[in-house]
Amino acid sequence: MSLVTTRPQIARLEGVHVELGGRDVLCHVDVVVQRSALTVIAGPNGAGKSTLLEVLAGTRRPSAGLVVRDDASSSFVPQRAAVAERLPVTVRDVVTVGAWGRLGPWRRMDAIARRAVDDALESLGLTALQRRPFSELSGGQRQRALLAQGLARGADLLLLDEPTTALDADSGERIRTAIAAEAGRGTAVVCVTHDLEVIAMADRVIRLEAGRVVGDSITG
Ligand SMILES: Nc1ncnc2c1ncn2[C@@H]1O[C@H](COP(=O)(O)OP(=O)(O)OP(=O)(O)O)[C@@H](O)[C@H]1O
Ligand SMILES: [Mg+2]
Repeated sequence: MSLVTTRPQIARLEGVHVELGGRDVLCHVDVVVQRSALTVIAGPNGAGKSTLLEVLAGTRRPSAGLVVRDDASSSFVPQRAAVAERLPVTVRDVVTVGAWGRLGPWRRMDAIARRAVDDALESLGLTALQRRPFSELSGGQRQRALLAQGLARGADLLLLDEPTTALDADSGERIRTAIAAEAGRGTAVVCVTHDLEVIAMADRVIRLEAGRVVGDSITG
């Protein structure tokens, strides 16, 4: 029996159906997500990958089916993040938002939260850029900053939508290393990707086509 089958489950979808604009975007989708594992969602454009991630994140309610999720913290880094271009915020500010979930009602940053922000900046190679305005970053640097925000949360379930798309080799490698470290420390990481190097690292690969699961292989 593979190791991954013995890891505890954090979330499960059963017979999930999503209809958008009168079209079936997800049909009868069954998915199990486990802790301490990297689950990759692969498949062509329009297959329903982002929609599946939104259902797992709880930001999209299915029209039918069951979503079972542990009472666990989660962090969702979407494919196209809506961060206002003109907001006068630094890279560190953006990453700090991720750590808010760790704080009490007054949002006072304590040493643990500051450390989480420092670690997330460091792991994505952003320490030297942390005082720069977010709006002055390149597209790839912004993508890294938004992933750092997701990491700073220290969530049990980390949902990433194409985190290495459009990044250079060095940034892609940093992100792959960060993903492996997260799964290694017990996080359930679900990553939508076309990146063959991320797929090669996966413990489980779920393939979607036209809203249906057409493959589910345990590789780790
Ligand atoms: N609000 C919406 N209304 C109608 N159809 C939608 C809506 N949002 C998404 N869709 C459709 O649902 C399908 C799945 O979209 P989704 O974004 O989940 O695909 P994806 O697999 O993530 O694609 P990509 O690889 O391009 O990111 C697509 O055909 C898309 O056109
Ligand atoms: Mg998508």
